[in-house]
Amino acid sequence: MVKLKTILSRRCSFLIDLIFVHLLLSLFFIHNTLAENQEFESNIDIPGYRNPALPVEKRVNDLMNRMTFAEKIDMVSGAGFTTKSNIRLGIPEIVMTDGPLGPNTKGRATNYSACINMASTWDDSLIKRVGVSIGEETRVLGRNMLLGPCLNIARVPQHGRTFESFGEDPFLTSRMAVAYIKGVQSQRVITSTKHFAVNNQEWNRGVVDVNVDERALREIYLPAFKAAVQKADTWSIMAAYNKFRGAYCCSNHYLLTEILKNEWGFDGFVVSDWGGVHNTVQTANSGLDLEMPDGAFLGDELITAIEQGEVAKDVVNEKVRRILRVMFKSGLFDESVKDYGGLANTEDRRALALEVARKSIVMLKNENKILPLDRGKIKSIAVIGPNADEARMYGGGSGYLPAHYAISPLQGLRDKVGEDVKIRFVKSGRLKRQTLPAIESQLLTPPGADPGEHGLLGEYFNNKELEGEPALRRIDDQVDFSWDTDSPAPGVVNKDLFSARWTGTFTSPGSGMFELGIMSDNGCRLYLDDKLVIDSWIVDMASSLRSIYISLEKDRKYNIRMEFFENIGTSEAHLGIAYYGKGDDINQAAIAAKESDVAIVCAGLRETLEGEGNDREQLSLPKDQVKLINAVVKANKNTIVVLYNATPVLMNEWIEDVPAIIEAFYPGQEGGHALADILFGDVNPSGKLPLTFVKSWKDSPVYKTYPGPKDSVTYSEDLFVGYRHFDKYNVEPLFPFGHGLSYTTFKYSNLDIIKQNHKFIVKADIQNTGNVAGEEIVQLYIQDVESSVEREVKVLKGFIRVNLEPEESKTVTFQLDKSALAFYDVKTKEWITEPGEFRILIASSSRDIRLTGSFELGN
Ligand code: BGC
Repeated sequence: MVKLKTILSRRCSFLIDLIFVHLLLSLFFIHNTLAENQEFESNIDIPGYRNPALPVEKRVNDLMNRMTFAEKIDMVSGAGFTTKSNIRLGIPEIVMTDGPLGPNTKGRATNYSACINMASTWDDSLIKRVGVSIGEETRVLGRNMLLGPCLNIARVPQHGRTFESFGEDPFLTSRMAVAYIKGVQSQRVITSTKHFAVNNQEWNRGVVDVNVDERALREIYLPAFKAAVQKADTWSIMAAYNKFRGAYCCSNHYLLTEILKNEWGFDGFVVSDWGGVHNTVQTANSGLDLEMPDGAFLGDELITAIEQGEVAKDVVNEKVRRILRVMFKSGLFDESVKDYGGLANTEDRRALALEVARKSIVMLKNENKILPLDRGKIKSIAVIGPNADEARMYGGGSGYLPAHYAISPLQGLRDKVGEDVKIRFVKSGRLKRQTLPAIESQLLTPPGADPGEHGLLGEYFNNKELEGEPALRRIDDQVDFSWDTDSPAPGVVNKDLFSARWTGTFTSPGSGMFELGIMSDNGCRLYLDDKLVIDSWIVDMASSLRSIYISLEKDRKYNIRMEFFENIGTSEAHLGIAYYGKGDDINQAAIAAKESDVAIVCAGLRETLEGEGNDREQLSLPKDQVKLINAVVKANKNTIVVLYNATPVLMNEWIEDVPAIIEAFYPGQEGGHALADILFGDVNPSGKLPLTFVKSWKDSPVYKTYPGPKDSVTYSEDLFVGYRHFDKYNVEPLFPFGHGLSYTTFKYSNLDIIKQNHKFIVKADIQNTGNVAGEEIVQLYIQDVESSVEREVKVLKGFIRVNLEPEESKTVTFQLDKSALAFYDVKTKEWITEPGEFRILIASSSRDIRLTGSFELGN
């Protein structure tokens, strides 16, 4: 028995040895095969494209070989905010979200600040950290493509999308773009750098044909996109809505194929702006790879164009190849969106938002050192204005970004001073909202109501004109309907082409000024006490709020009648109201200012006044804000105006009398705390303007060309955009590009320019000569003294943010190469550096040059 056991165990051990040797041999074989030709899939049953160990191009080829042509066609157009998945092959969707302030798809995310604030920090290492955090949060929200950054240059001071971009200078924009993209993509989130190209106004953006000289195109409008491609490897580019030299950007062969792909070597994919494609053959052949939001032109029509020989099959292969390449690079095949996980509203993100806000706020004016406020002396503050009790964080349109919480200036000040200081708040200076809370049912009573019955009588008609007998009569608790594409009463009332009337009385919940309005898609009108107060009986493009300010008396009953019609498509109707203030608010603001030690007026704009699709109509502040500022400063000379806006505002009607002005832009969810920190000197302001503020509209570089004819614009100012214009024509700006004050002073000395082969090292010493710590943004401009072509007076080519304790001195070092001196030569299509003298200007702003030196560039 023992013998048998021994034999068996020997046999077994022999068998185990045999298996072991066999296993080793197989592994060796697999390893060799992999190393030689990486044809893993031929040995075990995993398709090559599923193998993360294979190089991206091999995975792309493998998958392309497995796809049918119909499957490829499916890849080149989207479905809303995703690409289409392929179940047979397990090709996942690209799941997109709008940016660029952060991912806004699910409603809320961290709002670090608007992009214009990111630029006013002039701190690219900070913006890289913001990018990383935005990337993480995009994944937390289950998305893997962020539609941003937006790199369009602020050419027009009215441009509604200025809040989404990085200002007027190509160098500053490029540096911010590279930092942002590297940050976001480090989290394997695809950036979609937009809007390519020359998308510099919202007015007629869908049709306007932009004509711009080649040199200005290359030197002003394209450098940031080029940097995004070549220095940050942006994985996708979004083609703009407008036309460029006669062709829509989405079907512009010169922009998309010749420049972007051939010249710059872009190997990602080009996506259309939503609905920006207008034709099939030209678009397919021009270099656009993915049509969004659907396949109106690159779906069935593309198949027909291929069958008719107008588009080659290889053109489609190339598009699919580009999309897949990015999907593999960003890990989409190796990880499911469902597994992303992570947290959104974390302490780290909140701290980062506070840092951005603190570094981005710009102190424009501080006469008689009225700021910082003295904690020991200030016992009362009047906090006034339409932007005081609401945190303004974005302009309108796809770039909006509501946060999990937001600190308004009023809240920030309350948190700062606690109970020690009396705060008097007066809203004043009306700014219309985007939505209004629906009027509550208890405030509404239908005609002939039984006691306790509430709501309004709703009568629905199956025609657009409220004609004939209603198809339905019922009591509606409120008018707060989002029917989308459904009927208000299926089977009884039409889905489209219907109208409705609501009647009854409305009891005012209080006395004072109220905003009363209707948000509807489509037409609406409102009668109060039988007087027509809102009249918008039109087929609008989209739902919008029409409202009025009206003084109401508490408990008074008003007859109310709202009428509405729906044309076709989606429909909604809301009747809303919000308390505004006690009425006569300017007077009350002045009284509050007079009774307080200091008055802080939070003025400016909001998403109803600037945003996507919405250039500003005028550059001044709304009239009642101008009145408000003047009344407040008259009542108390210690008035500080804090502005919330992205596009510059004119100040000529009040600037002389106001001793301190802060430009906060849209400083994000922690803006209120950052403002209070700065006002009380706990943080020294250090932001600098990324765009020029004009004294009057006439001074603007685009005064003669904007808005221009409906369907075309010629950028006749050429290179002379922003500060380049003010320098050339010697026009005094209100506040220059690069301007921003501090509570301390900085001394600049010891400029040293060292030439090293093709490089230039520029050094300067910066000393903090005041008695508080501070940060200075040192700017380097270059002047080409002799040139065969016209050049700007100076151009920004470097900046460094430096942090200094009182009396501390640091040497800043810039490294430049010859490309910083070059211009684009239209004839040779090359960047040229001509020999001769160049001047280096080291500056605290574009109009505050502190050190000058020069050097000769030899042949
Ligand atoms: C905007 C884009 C945006 C897209 C998707 C367009 O209207 O121009 O910036 O990403 O919509 O929302």
